[in-house]
Amino acid sequence: MQPKMTTRPEDVGTAQDYAAYAESRLSNEAWHYLQSGAGDDRTLQRNTKAFAEVGLMPQSLADVRGGHTRLTLFGQTFEHPVLLAPVAYQSLFHPDGECASAVAANAQGGQMVVSSLASQPLEDIIRAAEQPLWFQLYWQGDRPRTLRLAQRAIAAGYGVVMLTIDAPVKQATLQLPQGVEAVNLEPALPAAAISPSQSAVFDGWMTQAPTWEDVAWLRDQIRVPFLLKGILSTADTVRALALGCDGLVVSSHGGRVLDGVPASLDVLPAIVEVVAGRVPVLLDSGVRNGRDVFKAMALGAAAVMIGRPYVWGLSSAGALGVAHVLRLVRDELEMTMALTGCRTLQEVGADKVLVSN
Ligand code: FNR
Repeated sequence: MQPKMTTRPEDVGTAQDYAAYAESRLSNEAWHYLQSGAGDDRTLQRNTKAFAEVGLMPQSLADVRGGHTRLTLFGQTFEHPVLLAPVAYQSLFHPDGECASAVAANAQGGQMVVSSLASQPLEDIIRAAEQPLWFQLYWQGDRPRTLRLAQRAIAAGYGVVMLTIDAPVKQATLQLPQGVEAVNLEPALPAAAISPSQSAVFDGWMTQAPTWEDVAWLRDQIRVPFLLKGILSTADTVRALALGCDGLVVSSHGGRVLDGVPASLDVLPAIVEVVAGRVPVLLDSGVRNGRDVFKAMALGAAAVMIGRPYVWGLSSAGALGVAHVLRLVRDELEMTMALTGCRTLQEVGADKVLVSN
């Protein structure tokens, strides 16, 4: 394996360029864990293809002087709409782990969503970040355990809780190396004992998975903005709104859970229509550059999250790499806005893209 870099590589011009640097700096197992999708990778592939299929409408000669990518979300102002998605076990990718990503998010005037499966203490990450972060919550098998984890994060200064609902059962796809673990979690609950005639899924794993009743209960316990991540249908959107969720994340989990579910971008317009401006709708899965950010926002996203692209930067060059990835994506977004005649994100609308059916 190559040593981590301490300066920006000269020949990197896009986030994607970091992928090769990352691959040569990770074990085969870590690289595979990062890149892989579920099943036959249908959703993984569809996520990027969906962006490729949306075109851009140029608008020449527009006066965009003084333009910017600033936005306000849940009372916080960011310089750009590219958040770092929750990604587990970041010490697997760089010894500086989640702290490095959090530092980079702040340095670039953005935000990071820290995973329940972070490999460093939540309090240390927020100290390194020097700003309130957002927390991604996985259901912890029962209500008290889940609430304890959320409350710990909120007490540490995490200002938004994002409950991931599309992966109710943690599937271990990787043998973690020594020293890398989910340090913020209580010991796992014992698996439900099942008889040979019972189902390992219905009578085993899913007995520790949350239901809509649990989410409604949790929603009422949490006093900071509460988002659901993993929405792909209008039916789930309606339920989430009825519970009083403060925002939604349209996500197919980067194609890592149920292969065959739609690309996030493909279902975004229908979900945005149902939400009708009541809460911010975020999107992730397949965003690879600033043009993709623009397309998602033109189709109604309030902001996007990136997953693998920033981990390529982290794996290559730690905080520096993550910050560089964010800067590259933002530069591409700004250029796309300028060439489509948009001075601000408010002007990035459906008239700026071409969606072929
Ligand atoms: C993830 N993702 C994820 N999501 C989540 O809610 N909690 C988690 O702990 C993780 N862990 C995780 C690990 C790795 C290695 C990856 C690649 C992804 C999903 C993540 O938040 C996001 O939805 C996707 O990564 C977005 O897709 P792209 O940008 O990777 O295409």
